[in-house]
Amino acid sequence: MTAADAPPLRLKRRRGRFITLEGGEGAGKSTQVRIIAERLRGAGLETIATREPGGTPHAEALRRVLLAGAGAPLGPAAEALLFSAARIDHLDKLIRPALERGAWVVCDRFSDSTRAYQGALGNLDPRLVRALEHVTLGETRPDLTLILDLPPELGLARASARRKASEVADRFEAETLAFHRGLRATFQDIAGAEPQRCVLIDAGCGKAEVAASIWQAIETRLLSARLRAKARGQSLADLAAGQGTTT
Ligand code: TYD
Repeated sequence: MTAADAPPLRLKRRRGRFITLEGGEGAGKSTQVRIIAERLRGAGLETIATREPGGTPHAEALRRVLLAGAGAPLGPAAEALLFSAARIDHLDKLIRPALERGAWVVCDRFSDSTRAYQGALGNLDPRLVRALEHVTLGETRPDLTLILDLPPELGLARASARRKASEVADRFEAETLAFHRGLRATFQDIAGAEPQRCVLIDAGCGKAEVAASIWQAIETRLLSARLRAKARGQSLADLAAGQGTTT
């Protein structure tokens, strides 16, 4: 067979990277998701910014139900199943197709939130939480999880400041301070238990400083030298200044 007869060479596209942000209420995750996505796009990478619960029409419908508190009377196990149902749709319709075509996905909350909110704070058997993760995620695990850490008093004050006068605290913001302290400790434990995947970020400072720590983690763990150089052309301070709220 000559070179001219050979079938065209099909280069396998490299899977994109999957970054998740986790932490308590008012930690500034959604602002940071926007900053990360802009920087990655500036480095020439197709990037999807998304959130949980939500990200697809069906999962957003479940989000409305869950944040209104309709899952609470069913107990933490059933609530975990509802968050997982939303996650399955999100993974199938948005996250996996994006990663497979080489796009990067940046997600505001993911399965560590189920581990923390429903699992640890709902006193679920860790084996049940692991089994649920196994069924829901399969092989699709985050490449990097940024855990935004701050005192819950500060986070709750930020979350209440961003709420409009007409809005009430959602199902989880309305929990006690002890719940939110437990949440912080659980996220810290997750970061300690999986250092190869997780980085704990101090989120008690200004958003430009938080963005700088996050970017350092992304650069060291995920970016090639070529992408690092491309992304350095942008100013983090400008990106942070361009953002509105601190959610
Ligand atoms: P959201 O308004 O997005 O909160 P935040 O700005 O703090 O991220 O609401 C999402 C809420 O849902 C949040 O309180 C955490 C909770 N949650 C769970 O309890 N389990 C989960 O698996 C997920 C993804 C979120």
